Amino acid sequence: MVTIDLSGKVALVTGVGDNESFAWFISKALRAAGATVVLACHPRVVGIVEGVLTRDMDRESRLLPDGSEFKPAKVLPCDAGYDTMADVKLDELPPATQRAYAKLTTDYSITGMVDAVGQEFGGIDILIHSMAFSREITKPLIETSRKAYHEAMGISAYSLVSLTRAAAPYMAGRPGGGSVVGLTYIGGERVVPYYGGGMSTAKAALDHDARQLAWFVGDKGTRVNLISAGPYASRAARSIRPGEFEKSVEHAAAHSPLRRPIEPTEVADAVLFLCSPLASAVTGQILYVDCGYHVMGT
Ligand SMILES: NC(=O)c1ccc[n+]([C@@H]2O[C@H](COP(=O)([O-])OP(=O)(O)OC[C@H]3O[C@@H](n4cnc5c(N)ncnc54)[C@H](O)[C@@H]3O)[C@@H](O)[C@H]2O)c1
Repeated sequence: MVTIDLSGKVALVTGVGDNESFAWFISKALRAAGATVVLACHPRVVGIVEGVLTRDMDRESRLLPDGSEFKPAKVLPCDAGYDTMADVKLDELPPATQRAYAKLTTDYSITGMVDAVGQEFGGIDILIHSMAFSREITKPLIETSRKAYHEAMGISAYSLVSLTRAAAPYMAGRPGGGSVVGLTYIGGERVVPYYGGGMSTAKAALDHDARQLAWFVGDKGTRVNLISAGPYASRAARSIRPGEFEKSVEHAAAHSPLRRPIEPTEVADAVLFLCSPLASAVTGQILYVDCGYHVMGT
Protein backbone atom coordinates (compact mmCIF):
# COMPACT_ATOMS: atom_id res chain seq x y z
CA MET A 1 0.00 0.00 0.00
CA VAL A 2 1.32 3.47 -0.87
CA THR A 3 0.95 5.97 1.96
CA ILE A 4 2.22 9.49 2.55
CA ASP A 5 4.41 9.53 5.62
CA LEU A 6 5.85 12.89 6.59
CA SER A 7 7.10 11.82 10.04
CA GLY A 8 10.27 13.64 10.99
CA LYS A 9 9.51 16.54 8.62
CA VAL A 10 9.22 20.12 9.86
CA ALA A 11 6.47 22.12 8.14
CA LEU A 12 6.26 25.90 8.43
CA VAL A 13 2.76 27.02 7.46
CA THR A 14 1.81 30.65 6.91
CA GLY A 15 -1.70 31.99 6.40
CA VAL A 16 -3.83 30.35 9.06
CA GLY A 17 -6.29 33.10 9.95
CA ASP A 18 -9.06 30.92 11.37
CA ASN A 19 -10.39 27.39 11.01
CA GLU A 20 -11.76 28.10 7.53
CA SER A 21 -8.42 29.09 5.99
CA PHE A 22 -6.93 26.81 3.35
CA ALA A 23 -3.82 26.87 5.55
CA TRP A 24 -5.83 25.38 8.45
CA PHE A 25 -6.80 22.35 6.39
CA ILE A 26 -3.26 22.10 5.01
CA SER A 27 -1.81 22.20 8.52
CA LYS A 28 -4.13 19.46 9.69
CA ALA A 29 -3.31 17.27 6.69
CA LEU A 30 0.44 17.73 7.21
CA ARG A 31 0.09 16.89 10.90
CA ALA A 32 -2.08 13.86 10.12
CA ALA A 33 0.70 12.65 7.81
CA GLY A 34 3.15 12.90 10.71
CA ALA A 35 4.85 16.28 10.15
CA THR A 36 5.71 18.68 12.97
CA VAL A 37 3.71 21.79 12.10
CA VAL A 38 4.67 25.35 13.03
CA LEU A 39 2.20 28.12 12.27
CA ALA A 40 3.28 31.65 11.37
CA CYS A 41 0.22 33.87 11.57
CA HIS A 42 -0.37 37.55 10.98
CA PRO A 43 0.01 39.25 14.39
CA ARG A 44 -3.60 40.48 14.12
CA VAL A 45 -4.97 36.92 14.00
CA VAL A 46 -2.69 35.10 16.48
CA GLY A 47 -5.33 35.48 19.20
CA ILE A 48 -8.07 34.16 16.89
CA VAL A 49 -5.93 31.14 15.96
CA GLU A 50 -5.04 30.43 19.58
CA GLY A 51 -8.77 30.50 20.35
CA VAL A 52 -9.54 28.05 17.57
CA LEU A 53 -6.78 25.78 18.91
CA THR A 54 -8.15 25.70 22.44
CA ARG A 55 -11.88 26.53 22.59
CA ASP A 56 -14.36 23.70 23.22
CA MET A 57 -16.69 25.04 20.52
CA ASP A 58 -13.94 24.56 17.92
CA ARG A 59 -12.94 21.07 19.03
CA GLU A 60 -14.58 19.37 16.07
CA SER A 61 -12.63 21.47 13.60
CA ARG A 62 -9.39 20.35 15.28
CA LEU A 63 -10.10 16.64 14.87
CA LEU A 64 -7.67 14.59 12.80
CA PRO A 65 -8.64 11.34 11.06
CA ASP A 66 -7.28 9.22 13.95
CA GLY A 67 -9.52 11.06 16.45
CA SER A 68 -6.71 13.11 18.00
CA GLU A 69 -6.78 16.90 17.97
CA PHE A 70 -4.60 19.09 15.79
CA LYS A 71 -1.99 20.92 17.80
CA PRO A 72 0.84 22.84 16.16
CA ALA A 73 4.28 22.70 17.76
CA LYS A 74 4.30 26.49 17.90
CA VAL A 75 2.35 29.57 16.78
CA LEU A 76 4.52 32.54 15.87
CA PRO A 77 3.49 36.01 14.72
CA CYS A 78 4.73 37.14 11.31
CA ASP A 79 3.77 40.14 9.21
CA ALA A 80 4.76 39.22 5.66
CA GLY A 81 4.99 42.91 4.78
CA TYR A 82 8.38 42.99 6.52
CA ASP A 83 11.54 41.16 5.47
CA THR A 84 13.47 42.25 8.59
CA MET A 85 12.58 44.32 11.63
CA ALA A 86 14.47 47.24 10.05
CA ASP A 87 11.50 47.55 7.65
CA VAL A 88 9.03 48.15 10.49
CA LYS A 89 8.08 51.81 10.85
CA LEU A 90 5.77 51.72 13.84
CA ASP A 91 4.92 55.42 13.64
CA GLU A 92 3.51 54.93 10.12
CA LEU A 93 0.99 52.33 11.34
CA PRO A 94 -2.52 53.03 12.62
CA PRO A 95 -2.49 53.60 16.43
CA ALA A 96 -4.20 50.29 17.31
CA THR A 97 -1.70 48.32 15.18
CA GLN A 98 1.19 50.29 16.70
CA ARG A 99 0.05 49.34 20.20
CA ALA A 100 -0.45 45.67 19.26
CA TYR A 101 2.93 45.40 17.49
CA ALA A 102 4.75 47.17 20.31
CA LYS A 103 3.64 44.35 22.64
CA LEU A 104 5.09 41.56 20.49
CA THR A 105 8.10 39.93 22.08
CA THR A 106 9.46 37.96 19.10
CA ASP A 107 10.90 39.07 15.76
CA TYR A 108 7.79 39.13 13.53
CA SER A 109 9.57 39.82 10.24
CA ILE A 110 9.85 37.05 7.65
CA THR A 111 13.59 36.56 8.23
CA GLY A 112 13.34 36.67 12.01
CA MET A 113 10.43 34.24 12.13
CA VAL A 114 12.05 31.79 9.68
CA ASP A 115 15.38 31.92 11.56
CA ALA A 116 13.59 31.19 14.82
CA VAL A 117 11.85 28.14 13.32
CA GLY A 118 14.92 26.88 11.45
CA GLN A 119 17.10 27.12 14.55
CA GLU A 120 14.64 25.72 17.08
CA PHE A 121 13.54 22.80 14.91
CA GLY A 122 16.93 22.09 13.32
CA GLY A 123 15.79 22.75 9.74
CA ILE A 124 12.68 23.13 7.58
CA ASP A 125 11.38 20.55 5.09
CA ILE A 126 8.06 22.08 4.04
CA LEU A 127 7.13 25.73 3.58
CA ILE A 128 3.54 26.74 2.86
CA HIS A 129 2.73 30.21 1.49
CA SER A 130 -1.00 30.82 1.88
CA MET A 131 -1.30 34.59 2.25
CA ALA A 132 -2.80 37.39 0.24
CA PHE A 133 -3.94 40.91 0.99
CA SER A 134 -5.10 44.05 -0.77
CA ARG A 135 -6.68 46.92 1.10
CA GLU A 136 -8.50 47.85 -2.14
CA ILE A 137 -9.60 44.33 -3.05
CA THR A 138 -13.14 45.53 -3.88
CA LYS A 139 -11.84 48.15 -6.34
CA PRO A 140 -11.37 46.98 -9.93
CA LEU A 141 -7.77 47.12 -11.16
CA ILE A 142 -8.40 50.26 -13.18
CA GLU A 143 -9.40 52.14 -10.00
CA THR A 144 -6.70 50.70 -7.76
CA SER A 145 -4.25 53.18 -6.25
CA ARG A 146 -0.50 52.78 -6.76
CA LYS A 147 -0.01 52.41 -3.01
CA ALA A 148 -2.52 49.58 -2.61
CA TYR A 149 -1.24 47.87 -5.76
CA HIS A 150 2.33 47.84 -4.46
CA GLU A 151 1.23 46.69 -1.02
CA ALA A 152 -0.79 43.83 -2.53
CA MET A 153 2.22 42.78 -4.60
CA GLY A 154 4.51 42.92 -1.57
CA ILE A 155 2.34 40.91 0.80
CA SER A 156 0.83 38.49 -1.71
CA ALA A 157 3.70 37.84 -4.13
CA TYR A 158 7.09 39.18 -3.00
CA SER A 159 6.58 37.42 0.34
CA LEU A 160 7.08 34.08 -1.46
CA VAL A 161 10.49 35.27 -2.66
CA SER A 162 11.39 36.57 0.78
CA LEU A 163 10.17 33.46 2.63
CA THR A 164 11.92 31.11 0.21
CA ARG A 165 15.17 33.08 0.49
CA ALA A 166 15.00 33.03 4.29
CA ALA A 167 14.11 29.33 4.44
CA ALA A 168 16.51 28.13 1.72
CA PRO A 169 19.50 27.54 4.04
CA TYR A 170 17.29 25.58 6.45
CA MET A 171 15.75 23.52 3.61
CA ALA A 172 18.98 22.81 1.74
CA GLY A 173 20.07 19.20 1.73
CA ARG A 174 17.16 17.91 3.84
CA PRO A 175 16.63 14.17 3.31
CA GLY A 176 14.25 13.73 0.38
CA GLY A 177 14.51 17.44 -0.48
CA GLY A 178 12.47 20.44 0.65
CA SER A 179 9.09 21.47 -0.69
CA VAL A 180 7.66 24.98 -0.98
CA VAL A 181 3.97 25.20 -1.89
CA GLY A 182 1.99 28.41 -2.48
CA LEU A 183 -1.64 29.15 -3.25
CA THR A 184 -2.62 30.96 -6.42
CA TYR A 185 -5.81 31.70 -8.34
CA ILE A 186 -6.90 31.68 -11.97
CA GLY A 187 -7.40 35.46 -11.69
CA GLY A 188 -3.64 35.74 -12.21
CA GLU A 189 -3.83 34.32 -15.73
CA ARG A 190 -7.36 35.06 -16.96
CA VAL A 191 -9.49 38.18 -16.54
CA VAL A 192 -11.71 37.91 -13.47
CA PRO A 193 -13.05 41.48 -13.40
CA TYR A 194 -13.97 41.63 -9.70
CA TYR A 195 -10.57 40.26 -8.58
CA GLY A 196 -9.30 43.75 -7.91
CA GLY A 197 -6.96 45.82 -5.79
CA GLY A 198 -3.89 44.59 -7.69
CA MET A 199 -4.51 41.01 -6.57
CA SER A 200 -4.73 39.67 -10.13
CA THR A 201 -1.31 41.17 -10.87
CA ALA A 202 0.05 39.81 -7.60
CA LYS A 203 -1.08 36.30 -8.54
CA ALA A 204 0.45 36.66 -12.03
CA ALA A 205 3.73 37.66 -10.36
CA LEU A 206 3.45 34.82 -7.86
CA ASP A 207 2.96 32.31 -10.68
CA HIS A 208 6.17 33.28 -12.43
CA ASP A 209 8.13 33.86 -9.24
CA ALA A 210 7.37 30.26 -8.26
CA ARG A 211 8.83 29.04 -11.55
CA GLN A 212 11.94 31.19 -11.09
CA LEU A 213 12.36 30.17 -7.46
CA ALA A 214 12.15 26.53 -8.53
CA TRP A 215 15.35 27.20 -10.49
CA PHE A 216 17.11 29.17 -7.78
CA VAL A 217 16.64 26.56 -5.03
CA GLY A 218 16.49 23.46 -7.24
CA ASP A 219 20.24 22.91 -7.00
CA LYS A 220 19.77 22.37 -3.26
CA GLY A 221 17.05 19.77 -3.81
CA THR A 222 14.18 22.11 -2.89
CA ARG A 223 11.06 22.08 -5.06
CA VAL A 224 8.65 25.02 -5.52
CA ASN A 225 5.08 24.54 -6.73
CA LEU A 226 1.75 26.32 -6.57
CA ILE A 227 -1.79 25.11 -6.25
CA SER A 228 -4.40 27.08 -8.18
CA ALA A 229 -7.48 26.57 -6.07
CA GLY A 230 -11.05 27.00 -7.21
CA PRO A 231 -13.16 29.61 -5.44
CA TYR A 232 -13.94 28.81 -1.81
CA ALA A 233 -15.65 31.12 0.68
CA SER A 234 -12.79 31.77 3.15
CA ARG A 235 -12.55 35.04 5.05
CA ALA A 236 -10.24 36.58 2.41
CA ALA A 237 -12.41 35.38 -0.46
CA ARG A 238 -15.61 36.74 1.09
CA SER A 239 -13.98 40.19 1.21
CA ILE A 240 -13.46 40.11 -2.58
CA ARG A 241 -17.20 40.22 -3.33
CA PRO A 242 -18.81 41.14 0.00
CA GLY A 243 -22.14 39.38 0.38
CA GLU A 244 -22.00 37.66 -2.97
CA PHE A 245 -18.87 35.52 -3.16
CA GLU A 246 -21.16 32.50 -3.31
CA LYS A 247 -21.95 33.59 -6.89
CA SER A 248 -18.30 32.91 -7.81
CA VAL A 249 -18.45 29.49 -6.18
CA GLU A 250 -21.72 28.65 -7.93
CA HIS A 251 -20.48 29.89 -11.31
CA ALA A 252 -17.29 27.83 -11.10
CA ALA A 253 -19.24 24.77 -9.95
CA ALA A 254 -21.71 25.04 -12.82
CA HIS A 255 -18.93 25.52 -15.39
CA SER A 256 -16.48 22.89 -14.14
CA PRO A 257 -16.15 19.42 -15.65
CA LEU A 258 -16.85 17.94 -12.21
CA ARG A 259 -19.90 20.27 -11.81
CA ARG A 260 -19.32 20.95 -8.14
CA PRO A 261 -17.34 23.32 -5.91
CA ILE A 262 -14.02 22.32 -4.38
CA GLU A 263 -13.56 21.32 -0.75
CA PRO A 264 -10.67 22.86 1.22
CA THR A 265 -9.58 19.34 2.19
CA GLU A 266 -8.98 18.66 -1.52
CA VAL A 267 -6.47 21.53 -1.60
CA ALA A 268 -4.83 20.09 1.52
CA ASP A 269 -4.61 16.64 -0.07
CA ALA A 270 -2.91 18.10 -3.15
CA VAL A 271 -0.42 19.87 -0.87
CA LEU A 272 0.35 16.52 0.77
CA PHE A 273 1.10 15.06 -2.65
CA LEU A 274 3.40 17.96 -3.56
CA CYS A 275 5.26 17.62 -0.24
CA SER A 276 5.63 13.87 -0.55
CA PRO A 277 8.20 11.67 -2.32
CA LEU A 278 5.45 10.94 -4.88
CA ALA A 279 6.17 14.42 -6.32
CA SER A 280 9.97 14.19 -6.10
CA ALA A 281 10.47 15.33 -9.73
CA VAL A 282 7.66 17.90 -9.74
CA THR A 283 8.79 21.52 -9.48
CA GLY A 284 7.93 24.88 -11.02
CA GLN A 285 4.36 23.68 -11.58
CA ILE A 286 0.89 25.02 -11.01
CA LEU A 287 -1.42 22.20 -9.97
CA TYR A 288 -5.08 23.11 -10.52
CA VAL A 289 -7.36 21.98 -7.72
CA ASP A 290 -10.47 23.53 -9.20
CA CYS A 291 -12.67 20.63 -10.37
CA GLY A 292 -11.24 21.32 -13.83
CA TYR A 293 -12.72 24.83 -14.18
CA HIS A 294 -9.58 26.22 -15.89
CA VAL A 295 -9.94 23.95 -18.95
CA MET A 296 -13.32 25.37 -19.93
CA GLY A 297 -13.88 27.95 -22.63
CA THR A 298 -17.15 29.28 -21.24
N1 LIG B 1 -10.49 31.26 -1.15
C1 LIG B 1 -10.34 31.22 -2.47
O1 LIG B 1 -11.31 31.24 -3.25
C2 LIG B 1 -8.96 31.12 -3.04
C3 LIG B 1 -8.78 30.61 -4.34
C4 LIG B 1 -7.49 30.50 -4.87
C5 LIG B 1 -6.40 30.91 -4.10
N2 LIG B 1 -6.61 31.41 -2.84
C6 LIG B 1 -5.43 31.82 -2.07
O2 LIG B 1 -5.30 31.03 -0.92
C7 LIG B 1 -4.50 31.73 0.02
C8 LIG B 1 -5.15 31.66 1.38
O3 LIG B 1 -6.39 32.35 1.37
P1 LIG B 1 -7.69 31.78 2.06
O4 LIG B 1 -8.73 31.71 1.00
O5 LIG B 1 -7.38 30.60 2.87
O6 LIG B 1 -8.14 33.01 2.99
P2 LIG B 1 -7.75 33.39 4.50
O7 LIG B 1 -8.33 34.73 4.75
O8 LIG B 1 -8.15 32.31 5.42
O9 LIG B 1 -6.16 33.44 4.44
C9 LIG B 1 -5.45 34.58 4.04
C10 LIG B 1 -4.37 34.75 5.08
O10 LIG B 1 -3.46 35.79 4.69
C11 LIG B 1 -3.00 36.35 5.89
N3 LIG B 1 -2.34 37.62 5.68
C12 LIG B 1 -2.83 38.73 5.07
N4 LIG B 1 -1.90 39.72 5.14
C13 LIG B 1 -0.83 39.21 5.79
C14 LIG B 1 0.43 39.72 6.18
N5 LIG B 1 0.79 41.01 5.94
N6 LIG B 1 1.29 38.93 6.85
C15 LIG B 1 0.96 37.66 7.15
N7 LIG B 1 -0.21 37.10 6.81
C16 LIG B 1 -1.09 37.87 6.13
C17 LIG B 1 -4.28 36.49 6.71
O11 LIG B 1 -3.97 36.71 8.10
C18 LIG B 1 -4.93 35.15 6.45
O12 LIG B 1 -4.54 34.21 7.43
C19 LIG B 1 -4.33 33.13 -0.51
O13 LIG B 1 -3.10 33.24 -1.19
C20 LIG B 1 -5.46 33.23 -1.52
O14 LIG B 1 -5.23 34.18 -2.54
C21 LIG B 1 -7.84 31.52 -2.29
